[in-house]
Amino acid sequence: MKTLKEAFDGFQPETALVLGSGLGGLVDSVDVVSRTPYTELEGFSASAVSGHTAELIGGTIAGHKVAVLSGRVHYYEQGDAAAMRGPLEALKSVGVNRLILTNSAGSLNEEAGPGSIMQIEDHINFSGTNPLIGEPTDDRFVGLTTAYDESLRERFADAAARLQIPLHKGVYMWFSGPTFETPAEIRMARVFGANAVGMSTVPEVILARFLGMDVAAFSVITNYAAGMTGNELGHGETKEMAPKGGALLTQLISTVLEEGFQ
Ligand code: HPA
Repeated sequence: MKTLKEAFDGFQPETALVLGSGLGGLVDSVDVVSRTPYTELEGFSASAVSGHTAELIGGTIAGHKVAVLSGRVHYYEQGDAAAMRGPLEALKSVGVNRLILTNSAGSLNEEAGPGSIMQIEDHINFSGTNPLIGEPTDDRFVGLTTAYDESLRERFADAAARLQIPLHKGVYMWFSGPTFETPAEIRMARVFGANAVGMSTVPEVILARFLGMDVAAFSVITNYAAGMTGNELGHGETKEMAPKGGALLTQLISTVLEEGFQ
């Protein structure tokens, strides 16, 4: 077992990327400096979800130093909403102060179909839990009014416009999973103001804000949400469709990284 600091051996990225189901293709755009399985890293545990690898990559994308978490642990795996606290604290300890999260999600909007991408502007925590439950300090009272950093959002929106990549924007609603939603739940989600639904990301956003990181988050739409088409949902569709939107997201993220952050 080693600490992330030891694995990185002096490599100091300021930006970390978390790759969701089927989005591992983004790793191909990394010039790899180090590659460490989560099983060898203190504070990390491996996800057992197919379509997720479990390794931490240090390297550069378009010349910008990044830590790439290829795979995440979900709340639904062990019932632990704080499952990503160890990895995020480890990233913070090596100087990461910017977190770019990606996930696969179901769309509630007809115009944002499978293969499209959505920038998350806000979220609804519908899981009934929170990764900071049990945190004993007053730091647990994290404000989430500006959880999704506005200047990062603008940067990504500008880059998408220049690249002519349609970038939807909206509210992501976190359901615990691992089952998909029912059609009735999706009708409720629509009334609540959700544009996409998924089983991850929100706990990481909360933890990252707790740790003082700036956050940007994106959904790759892999399907229309439950009840919107005649089809039953399954993980196969997520894995099959994610690489399509994932390619657009890779292009967008690498362009923004190339331009750098001030
Ligand atoms: N619901 C929840 N999570 C998801 C979906 C969905 O429809 N698609 C991909 N991840």
